[in-house]
Amino acid sequence: MSKELEIKIIALGKAILEGSKKRELHILSPLGFVDKLLESSLNNAELKIALFRFVDVMPSLKNSKEIVSHLEEYFLEIAKKSNIIKLIIKLSKLPILREIVSTLAKTQINSISKKFILGESPTEALYKLAKLKTKNRKYTVDLLGEAALSGAESEEYFFRYKELIKILSANSQIKGDNEDSPVNISIKLSSLYESTNPLNFEQSVLKLSEKLSSLFRLVKESKGTAFVDMEDSSLVDITLAVVKNVLTKEEFSNYKKFGIVLQAYLKRTEKDLDNILDWIKNERKTQIQIRLVKGAYWDTEFMSSISNGWDCPVFIEKTHSDFNYEKLSYKLLNNTKYVYPAFASHNIRSLSNAICIASELKLEKHDFEIQTLYGMGEEFKDELVARGFSVREYAPVGKMLPGMAYLVRRLLENTANEGFLRRVSFDKISDLDELLKAPSIYNLAHDLESNNKEFNLVKNNGNNDNS
Ligand code: 2OP
Repeated sequence: MSKELEIKIIALGKAILEGSKKRELHILSPLGFVDKLLESSLNNAELKIALFRFVDVMPSLKNSKEIVSHLEEYFLEIAKKSNIIKLIIKLSKLPILREIVSTLAKTQINSISKKFILGESPTEALYKLAKLKTKNRKYTVDLLGEAALSGAESEEYFFRYKELIKILSANSQIKGDNEDSPVNISIKLSSLYESTNPLNFEQSVLKLSEKLSSLFRLVKESKGTAFVDMEDSSLVDITLAVVKNVLTKEEFSNYKKFGIVLQAYLKRTEKDLDNILDWIKNERKTQIQIRLVKGAYWDTEFMSSISNGWDCPVFIEKTHSDFNYEKLSYKLLNNTKYVYPAFASHNIRSLSNAICIASELKLEKHDFEIQTLYGMGEEFKDELVARGFSVREYAPVGKMLPGMAYLVRRLLENTANEGFLRRVSFDKISDLDELLKAPSIYNLAHDLESNNKEFNLVKNNGNNDNS
C-alpha cells in the first residue's frame, strides 16, 4: 500500500472520530447498575463470565426465587472480593427484598436487550425501523433464533420469516423509502433446518436450498434484498453451497439483490472469496451483494479448536483479522462489477481504509455501503450518514430467549479489550494515531504455530489440574 494512501486513511479516520466526538451520544448509553458491572467486568474476567452466564440463563428463570438463587450461585466467588455484590446477595436472602432484587435484575437485563434488539415482533419493531429512517439510516432485519432444535422450531422460524417479509412490504410507515423496497432481511440458515450439520451435508444443502428459495422468491416479488448470514465455521461449506445452488436457479439468475456474508477472521475466507468471484464471472454472470464482517464467533471458534486439538480456523491475533479485512476490502472494491460490497464494522480504521480505497479506485459512494449493528457505535453512524455514505443497521427482532446467544455476542464485543469500540469509548480517544494505525500483516504459518503454543499451554494446565 502506498504511503500516500496510508496518510489519507489515517486523516479520514481522525476526521470521522473527531466529528463523532462532537455528537453527544454515548456508545454504551447509561444502563444503571448493569452498565457499571459491564464496565468493571472489562478488566475482570471472573466477573465477566459470571455476568454473561447470568444474562444467558435469565430468560429461562421462572420466579424470583430462581433468579436470586442463580445470582448467588454465579456471583458467589466475586462477592468475596466485592462488597457491593456481597451486600446484594445478602439482601436478596431476605424474602421481603427478594422480589425487589430479582425485579431489578430483570429490568436491567431487559434494558440491555432493548438496547440491541428492536422489539419482540416485527410489528413492534416497525416503529423503530421508521425511526431509523428519520435518521437517514437503512436496515436489514434479522429474526432472532439460530440452530433450530426440532422440525417444529425450524418450521416456525420459516413461517415467521414469511410473515416478516409480508409485514415489511405492506407497512406504510416505512414504505416510500428512497430504496426500491422496504424489505431487507438477513437469514441464519441453521434456524431453517434442524439437522443442519456438515455430517449431513447433502441433506442439509437440499433442505436449506428449498426453504431459502421460497424466502428468496417472496423477497424478489417485493423487489427486496436478502442476505444469508455466516455463522460458525462448521457451517461455511453448507452456507456457500446453498447460496450457490439457489442463486444458480433460473428464477434468480438476473436478480442482483441477494447477498452473502464473509468473515475476515477466518483464515479460509480469501480463498472462498476467490471462488465466489470465479463463480460469478464464469457461471452466474450477475452481481451479488457481499457483506464483509470481522466475525462474531471468535471465542467459540477459538475455544472449540483448543478443546478438540484442531487448527484454529480464525486468526488468533485481532490485528491479523483486521489486516485480512483490509485485504478483502480491496478485493471486493476491485470487483464491483461482480459484487456490491457492504462493509460491516464499527472499526473506523477498517471503514476509512475501505472508503479511501474506493476513492482511489474512482468509485462512487453508492458503489458500496456501510453496515453496523443496531445499538452500537451510534456517533459513528450519524457522522458517516452526514458524510453521504449509505449506512445500514443490522436490526434484530425477537424474544429474549432465542436472542440470548446474539445478546451475549454483543456483550462480548462491547467488553473485549482489543475491540475498537471499547478502546474509543472507555479509554477515551487518547492516541488517535495508535488507534488508527495499519494492522499487522499475518503469516499463516506463524499463526498456526502460536495456536499450537496456546493449545499446549491449555493442555498442560489441564494436566496440572488433574494431578
Ligand atoms: C450475529 O448474529 C451480527 O450476525 C451477527 O452475531
